[in-house]
Amino acid sequence: MILDKSDKCSVLRIAVLASGRGSNFEALCHGDTGNGRISLLVTDNENADVLKKASESGVEALYMSPGKYRTKFGEAEEREWTRFMMDRGIELVCLAGLMRIIKGPMLEEFRGRIINIHPSLLPSFPGLHAQRQALDYGVRVTGCTVHYVDAGVDTGPIILQKSINVKDDDTVETLSGRILKQEHIAYPEAVRLLCSGSFERMM
Ligand code: GAR
Repeated sequence: MILDKSDKCSVLRIAVLASGRGSNFEALCHGDTGNGRISLLVTDNENADVLKKASESGVEALYMSPGKYRTKFGEAEEREWTRFMMDRGIELVCLAGLMRIIKGPMLEEFRGRIINIHPSLLPSFPGLHAQRQALDYGVRVTGCTVHYVDAGVDTGPIILQKSINVKDDDTVETLSGRILKQEHIAYPEAVRLLCSGSFERMM
């Protein structure tokens, strides 16, 4: 688990890594995360809306270059992001719409302390366009998953899931909207569980 029981009362510093809109970042900032505190926002997108949301929420926020690749970090850059978070005493990293795979130094340094939210009931529909995949497949139930991050794409051990029914007339937009509402409940709840030490770490 992330915390020893003896640490239960101390504040746990959390970094959120995001690429875009930032609604999950906001949900984490304003939701009940127990003794977890959102202390830092780092984005790989200079124009991300999440930067504005961070300044409105009074959270230290910055853009850092991810390197030359589109879907992963450059090795040197991943090391810089990792070092930056370590220097700020970050203990838990929450990915919230970070459109980039983490494989190298960050995963090693924060192993078992990086979590992600994904808009499907994993292991179904990993990767991009999860809501579209669910509609195309014709599932009657879908939802969202908070899980540990490992070296795969949306493959780490599951912490918590929330489900919703798919309606006959759902579009990607309507389905995504209902899933997102559940994401905003699930993510703070998962963080609260981890920070209270009541969830056994499986990595
Ligand atoms: C969320 O739906 C999140 O589950 C998804 O990106 C969106 C980010 O929205 N993440 C993934 O698909 C990761 N595989 P937000 O920026 O408003 O939080």
